[in-house]
Amino acid sequence: EWTSESFIETTVAALKEKLGDDKVVLGLSGGVDSSVAAVLLHQAIGKNLYCIFVDNGLLRKDEFESVLDSYKHMGLNVTGVDAKQRFYDALEGLSDPEKKRKAIGRVFIEVFDDEAHKVQDVKWLGQGTIYPDVIESVSVKGPSATIKSHHNVGGLPDFMKLKVVEPLNTLFKDEVRRVGKSLGIDPNILGRHPFPGPGLAIRILGEVTPEKVAILQQADAIYINNLRSAGVYDKVWQAGAIYLPVQSVGVMGDERTYENVVCLRAVESLDGMTADWCHLPYELLAKISNEIINNVKGINRVVYDISSKPPATIEWE
Ligand code: XMP
Repeated sequence: EWTSESFIETTVAALKEKLGDDKVVLGLSGGVDSSVAAVLLHQAIGKNLYCIFVDNGLLRKDEFESVLDSYKHMGLNVTGVDAKQRFYDALEGLSDPEKKRKAIGRVFIEVFDDEAHKVQDVKWLGQGTIYPDVIESVSVKGPSATIKSHHNVGGLPDFMKLKVVEPLNTLFKDEVRRVGKSLGIDPNILGRHPFPGPGLAIRILGEVTPEKVAILQQADAIYINNLRSAGVYDKVWQAGAIYLPVQSVGVMGDERTYENVVCLRAVESLDGMTADWCHLPYELLAKISNEIINNVKGINRVVYDISSKPPATIEWE
């Protein structure tokens, strides 16, 4: 019978054997998979694991700092890279979702390659690939598609010529969470909703600017904090706020406002392939809407997405 403890024991032993004194670079995303993969590798090879965590400026509010902090507390050898401006520059003027994804994928590869080059004599690339990624049943919009299209153009960046080590590639998501729990990883990281690689860029419809990111981060934080304090967060498979490229009229005191709309999305799902919109309580939605409108400058209207997948994808882009 499969247990997380026996998986950890055999995997760490096998990694030690396979990697010896070799160095490994691994990109952390703040998500469950890369975090669990990193801790397993760390148990096997310690400081020879070099983790890289890139701030693409498209993460949730304060997420980069808080996640980097948890990684350091876990004892990981991790470098945080502030690459916000490089991503914003690459996104300037782009409004097509696939062009945005490609730009983000390209810059990520450049930033990661720069950092990987700083590690002398690195032999391996660690990845948090899980079994469903291997059988490519995840999302046709997933990051691997972005990476592939990039390669066809320019040839492989150096870090992609490294040998690949993927300690989780036989596991399903729930097994990864169980392994993470046995490894003592922060429940906040393990229970985190899925979050797309291109981050808030695909939740800002149309062109991405740092100003829109800041507005969306505030609205999203109010939304997610309320889901947490209402005890609903763990019952929802994925939730997030979307910045719509629509302005509508409002009144504030005696004044007329003409500002943007934020849409709230929350879904129940098993694997993201199909999804039902969550029937969140009206009182909770009312509280979130009020807090967003009263506190987030630039937003005067909040709507709730009541569409299921198919046909409405979870993300709007
Ligand atoms: P959709 O929008 O296709 O999303 O219903 C299904 C799941 O995939 C995530 N998603 C992405 N993840 N890069 C990612 O890493 C992407 O480009 C991407 N697009 C969608 C989405 O958040 C949901 O969990």
